Amino acid sequence: MQKGERVNFGSKIGAVLAAAGSAVGLGNIWRFPYETGNHGGAAFILIYLACVLLLGMPIMIAEFTVGRHSKASTGRAYKVLAPGTHWKWLGYLGVLAGFLILGYYSVVAGWTLEYILEAGVDGFANKKPDDFVVAFQNFSQDPVRPLVWLFIFLLATHFIIVKGVKDGIEKSSKVLMPVLFILIVVLVGCSLSLPNAEKGLEFLLKPDFSKVNGDVFLGAMGQAFFSLSLGMGCLSTYASYFGKETKLGNTALSVGVIDTFVAVLAGLIIFPAAFSVGLQPDAGPSLIFITLPNVFQQAFSGVPVLAYIFSVMFYVLLALAALTSTISLHEVVTAFLHEEFNLTRGRAARLVTAGCIAIGVVSSLSLGVLQEYTLFEKGFFDLLDFVTAKIMLPLGGLLVCVFVGWYLKRSVSYEEWTNGGKLKAGLFNLYIFLLRYVAPVAIILIFINELGLI
Ligand code: PFF
Repeated sequence: MQKGERVNFGSKIGAVLAAAGSAVGLGNIWRFPYETGNHGGAAFILIYLACVLLLGMPIMIAEFTVGRHSKASTGRAYKVLAPGTHWKWLGYLGVLAGFLILGYYSVVAGWTLEYILEAGVDGFANKKPDDFVVAFQNFSQDPVRPLVWLFIFLLATHFIIVKGVKDGIEKSSKVLMPVLFILIVVLVGCSLSLPNAEKGLEFLLKPDFSKVNGDVFLGAMGQAFFSLSLGMGCLSTYASYFGKETKLGNTALSVGVIDTFVAVLAGLIIFPAAFSVGLQPDAGPSLIFITLPNVFQQAFSGVPVLAYIFSVMFYVLLALAALTSTISLHEVVTAFLHEEFNLTRGRAARLVTAGCIAIGVVSSLSLGVLQEYTLFEKGFFDLLDFVTAKIMLPLGGLLVCVFVGWYLKRSVSYEEWTNGGKLKAGLFNLYIFLLRYVAPVAIILIFINELGLI
């Protein structure tokens, strides 16, 4: 597609919701609680919040700047802004990260479909906490069932991507995001009303800094990048569809606040419920698939019809939140192939979908029949998660800081921040300071610390 033909999001709120749709997904409701659980609770959350504020916000605005200024997807943006340099590799790194994330993310997205079905046939009724543990293990290790769901999920993503940006991405985000939010708030209320819920609250709110080590910092930083869809050019690709009146600073703030809110609310659903039924908070990736069915059963034990309605609705919305994120991941890779190799969008999308099915199949089987094949003591699924979230995304973020903070002319950043001089400069200097010094130094320190060099 040529520059002048690029489709834009139809409205400012559409831009915010599409970006928030990318950010809010399994990262908030599935990954955030289990990372919090694995890293000891409240102290992790505080470090996470610092990462969102000091790294996430400036890097998001920088990615918006790259996307809107170049009017190109991330794969090509750096070629437009820095022709003839090696910066194009930063775009390629993002595309690769997006492709790998989509592969394993779709496996978990597929699990949500199984749980919709299970909830729909009233399969949670009268089950005990231990039954949910066994059911999840049997399902996730099955060699066929999760693959069928993976396939269906990627086909749905494919279909929306082929329909295009405005009709597909924007319209769905506008409806889904608010409904998801309301349901989450209702579920927080239910979870907090369970017996022993206070123990879960304490875990979330009372920091124990004695458990903080390098892994906690790396985990919090990786989670911030993953959850905000940063470090791989996803939001920069979306920003290439922003109109010229979209305010980059405000949009970033809205996305950051919405994303963080949903993650913290997800924690408020999951931990009180987990402690209430005596589940360990560090159960890992299975956490929400075991605790949530319990919340529904216990909170509404007297009114089974409510348990039924809420559980179906929750998994439907979780699947839809995952869908708005898989769409954004798919879009990065599809737009890259489309613009870089002159493939039609349909053809580019087919290649991406086929590749992701292959990655997804291996990831899914690595939790079951291929369990014994490991590298650095991690199966393929865990390895992909580690390499993308904890290495590739922060590395991409670091390079974006250097690119926009140091390489790109300050006047370009200023022009994008003020929409060509129409808005006040406001916190522009603070943003540049965070982007040039605070964020890159923090990322480097966390990396060095993890390598055991300090
Ligand atoms: N932010 C999404 C989530 O929290 O579920 C996942 C994701 C989407 C990560 C897009 C990276 C990305 F580029």
